Amino acid sequence: MRLTEADKKKIEDVIGALRMHSAVCRMQRYVQHGEVSTFEHCERVVRASYLLDKTLHLHSNKKDLLMGAFLHDFYLYDWHEKDDSHKWHGFFHAAKAARNARAHFNVNPKVEQVIKTHMWPLNITKIPTSREGWIVCLADKYVSTAETLAMRTRK
Ligand SMILES: [Fe+2]
Ligand SMILES: [Fe+2]
Repeated sequence: MRLTEADKKKIEDVIGALRMHSAVCRMQRYVQHGEVSTFEHCERVVRASYLLDKTLHLHSNKKDLLMGAFLHDFYLYDWHEKDDSHKWHGFFHAAKAARNARAHFNVNPKVEQVIKTHMWPLNITKIPTSREGWIVCLADKYVSTAETLAMRTRK
């Protein structure tokens, strides 16, 4: 299933301004998987979240869903670089991204929760608490798996 022009417009209405923000643009410098930047990864999770919601008629709050999806990995470093503060990246980056999202954009508690819980079940106690949280959690797994597989087959 592909995004229609109307879908793209709805997405743009929510995250268009965020996409231009200098702090968000920093994500273009960091590698997520293979040749995919964290910025591109977040955009893919936005599209996958939107399509999951639409296809399954989940009727989530689009603003919370798309904000949470776009900022879910807003932790602002390259996790491949060796640095003590990046140790345990898998376990701690969701909380870091949520802190950054609140600091830069004063996101509401629901969006903060979507970001904080996207790494479930790795972060076993941080279970998604909303429909939007479950969608982003699943969309991220799907996109990350596809990116990792694409990277492996390219080798
Ligand atoms: Fe993540
Ligand atoms: Fe992610």
